Amino acid sequence: MHIKQNISLKSYNTFGIDVLADFFISVSNVDELQQVLALKSHPNKLILGGGSNMLLTKNFKGLVIHINIKGIEIISENDDFATIKASAGENWHEFVLWCINNDFGGIENLSLIPGNVGTAPIQNIGAYGVELKDTFVSCEAISLETKNLKTFTKADCDFGYRNSIFKQHAKGKYIITNVTFTLSKKNHELHVNYGAIKSQLETMQISQPTIQEVSKAVIAIRESKLPNPKEIGNSGSFFKNPVISKSNFDTLLQNFSDIPSYPVSEDEVKVPAGWLIEKAGFKGKQFGDFGVHKNQALVLVNYGNAKGSDILNLSKLIQKTVKRLFDISIEAEVNIL
Ligand code: EPU
Repeated sequence: MHIKQNISLKSYNTFGIDVLADFFISVSNVDELQQVLALKSHPNKLILGGGSNMLLTKNFKGLVIHINIKGIEIISENDDFATIKASAGENWHEFVLWCINNDFGGIENLSLIPGNVGTAPIQNIGAYGVELKDTFVSCEAISLETKNLKTFTKADCDFGYRNSIFKQHAKGKYIITNVTFTLSKKNHELHVNYGAIKSQLETMQISQPTIQEVSKAVIAIRESKLPNPKEIGNSGSFFKNPVISKSNFDTLLQNFSDIPSYPVSEDEVKVPAGWLIEKAGFKGKQFGDFGVHKNQALVLVNYGNAKGSDILNLSKLIQKTVKRLFDISIEAEVNIL
């Protein structure tokens, strides 16, 4: 077991924030992880997956455990479906590409989402009409209390919009070590009605897309709208899209007749936070080394050497302005540490 000291976390978070961890270890299997968790010498621990959904605002005074457990396995299959288990440390997009190359369908709309397999269930990643929960079967996780493995079924996970048990009462209590999915082998059920995919496929002149082509369309959309974290530090959507009551929405419509919305229930709608932030004048605004992305106002960016606190302060200013203008509270989607 090799614990390093004073390690920069810059390359371990997609925002590219340069903070230091007092201690750091990368673990490549479950046994090693269990041993590290049992260490009494490091009571303060931070678990790091792909680092794609966090904003680090200060040095970490403790032990960072980087989950680097790899492996993809076909557990079972019949003519129609394959059940696949992927380890937590697999990069999400590479896992999607592996599935597409094997012609396993169901997660092609989730192409190019940053992060790792093990952190994907925490916020039930989603894009273009598909969410992780649609193909999720179960996951295994280590309890930080008992250090034992526990299986969580789909029902146990209580998935919602960018939400799961791992963001609610199981928060900070488990480390996901692998995730199992059921994917289709033929007659793939495609989700291509989402506006942006439809028009991208039209541009590509494809009317009967394969899962490979859907993935290509999604990649093209994301590349045109969202900054690549390898080039410009970011954490995808910084905020969640707020859900508001229909009556509040109707009041807003009187002043903002072009406000978009998606139905949620009989009396609630979801409003794109990107629209609210753009209307509030923040889209494309740059303040030195940080700002709001020019093509997608939901994404805050680090152009170089921004501090986590710079981005946090900007996010607070955005929240305050949106609240003042629309009386809507927008909540951060990323974890702030
Ligand atoms: N919009 C604007 N200005 C902007 C951005 C968006 O007006 O700068 C409005 C437009 O009306 C647009 C609508 O918002 O039609 C929706 O925009 P988009 O399709 O880009 O989706 P989103 O609601 O902004 C969500 C997810 C994204 C996901 C896309 C596509 C959340 C918080 N974000 O964004 O997820 O890729 O839908 O399905 O739900 C992520 O979580 O990191 C992420 C990128």
